[in-house]
Amino acid sequence: SIELNLRPTTLKQYIGQHKVKENLSIFIQAAKMREEPLDHVLLYGPPGLGKTTLAAIIANEMGVQFRSTSGPAIERAGDLAAILSSLEPGDVLFIDEIHRLPRSVEEVLYPAMEDFFLDIVIGTGPSARSVRIDLPPFTLVGATTRAGLLSAPLRDRFGILSRLEYYDARDLCSIIERTADIFNTSISQEAAVEVARRSRGTPRVANRLLKRIRDISQVKGESEISLATSGEALQMLQVDKVGLDHIDHKLLKGIIESFQGGPVGLDTIAATIGEESQTIEDVYEPYLLQIGFIQRTPRGRVATFQAYEHFGLKVADDHESR
Ligand code: ADE
Repeated sequence: SIELNLRPTTLKQYIGQHKVKENLSIFIQAAKMREEPLDHVLLYGPPGLGKTTLAAIIANEMGVQFRSTSGPAIERAGDLAAILSSLEPGDVLFIDEIHRLPRSVEEVLYPAMEDFFLDIVIGTGPSARSVRIDLPPFTLVGATTRAGLLSAPLRDRFGILSRLEYYDARDLCSIIERTADIFNTSISQEAAVEVARRSRGTPRVANRLLKRIRDISQVKGESEISLATSGEALQMLQVDKVGLDHIDHKLLKGIIESFQGGPVGLDTIAATIGEESQTIEDVYEPYLLQIGFIQRTPRGRVATFQAYEHFGLKVADDHESR
């Protein structure tokens, strides 16, 4: 698919996340010199920043197979046993949303990660017995939106912890130019900068916006995506000047208008605007926190002065935000 073709396959092609890349590159090099599998890696951070891409790059750089699954897809210990026992030595097993692994599966994973064996109970009642299955040494790459969602024993079994950060406009601009290249499309420098500014620090968002902008530019018969067309397209897509979309607006306006700027609890605001608490917490809030439009307080979420200013509103005198 186009999505997959857009993905860089080597660390060198991967733009941004400089610290993460620098560290991984050394750990990969050392593991290869010792002819050992790479230590288990936990990638955490907001969605769309390239955790899956990095996991596939790790496998590619190590010269091993990439096997991919997700926490909710592994329902029973047996599902995990089937996957682990089919690995080749050194393979990378990627588990996305690893914080959603059932607890019973997690417990089977501990000895697998630590000593490469499985303890599986076969049968029930008096005939139940436990069998030990040796596994090939492998690298687990786990991904989660927040490391804090993982149980401590699972988190402790990762030797490498890498936090992905929102991309700055310069790196996003390079990604947009790279994607345009893959699309065989040209985009003006000023248009690329504008799209980068309005992509919430997230390559997945940047690439999605670029696809739609390219559609409009193509229909208009442009030879190069222009700033004007980008602006028009972003307006059509309801992406504002700082990259906030319709749902960000609902969330911020909800806090401001229905709760006098807060504090308001996550579940309360979620119910008010009709979105899932989990989606707000994992997808929307992290960026709004990053740009300082909301604050988390012990009593709930507060819209900041910057948020009010963004909507051209005045903060009430008794408002809690600074
Ligand atoms: N496409 C999406 N994310 C990317 C990244 N970090 N580097 C290069 N291309 C990308």
